[in-house]
Amino acid sequence: MAYTRAVVRELLRYRPPVLMVPYVVKKPFPITDTYTAPKGSMVVPTTYMALRDPEVYENPDVFDPERYYSGDAEVKGAKNYLVFGTGPHYCLGQQYAQLNLALMIGKASLLLDWKHHPTPKSEEIKVFATIFPMDDCPLTFDYRKW
Ligand code: HEM
Repeated sequence: MAYTRAVVRELLRYRPPVLMVPYVVKKPFPITDTYTAPKGSMVVPTTYMALRDPEVYENPDVFDPERYYSGDAEVKGAKNYLVFGTGPHYCLGQQYAQLNLALMIGKASLLLDWKHHPTPKSEEIKVFATIFPMDDCPLTFDYRKW
């Protein structure tokens, strides 16, 4: 399921479910040459810029699974792919989550005809812990006839 995997990778880059990861500063942490976050403060970095970096992802605002299928996004963006965090607390469920997404997309594509009914708000994003389409993604499903 190489292409399905590419869809999952690109989907998570294009619409990362976790937009920011909060950290408590344990010791003074230099952010720039002139600013150091003091101990006890919170730093809340976002993954957005890394996942939309035009030097790594050409046309970063376009959903294009080919980046991960025929393209070099996996290699070129190895350090940019912060969807599951990085460092000692990186997401322990990342392989499981991505395999489940591929499984769900694969099964749904085999068993169902699905139709998206786009609205003017479909591409607007609602943030409620994670992200949702503003119109709650109106979809209809029918069993596929083989
Ligand atoms: C698409 C789905 C998921 C996304 C986008 C996601 C993303 C993340 C992110 C950004 C972090 C913080 C990493 C950091 O601090 O650098 C994290 C931590 C974590 N995730 Fe996930 N996650 C997902 C699914 C899951 C699943 C399914 C599980 C478990 C079955 C899981 C288990 C964990 C655990 C245990 C941590 C904390 C690890 C630690 O603090 O050492 N995640 N996840």
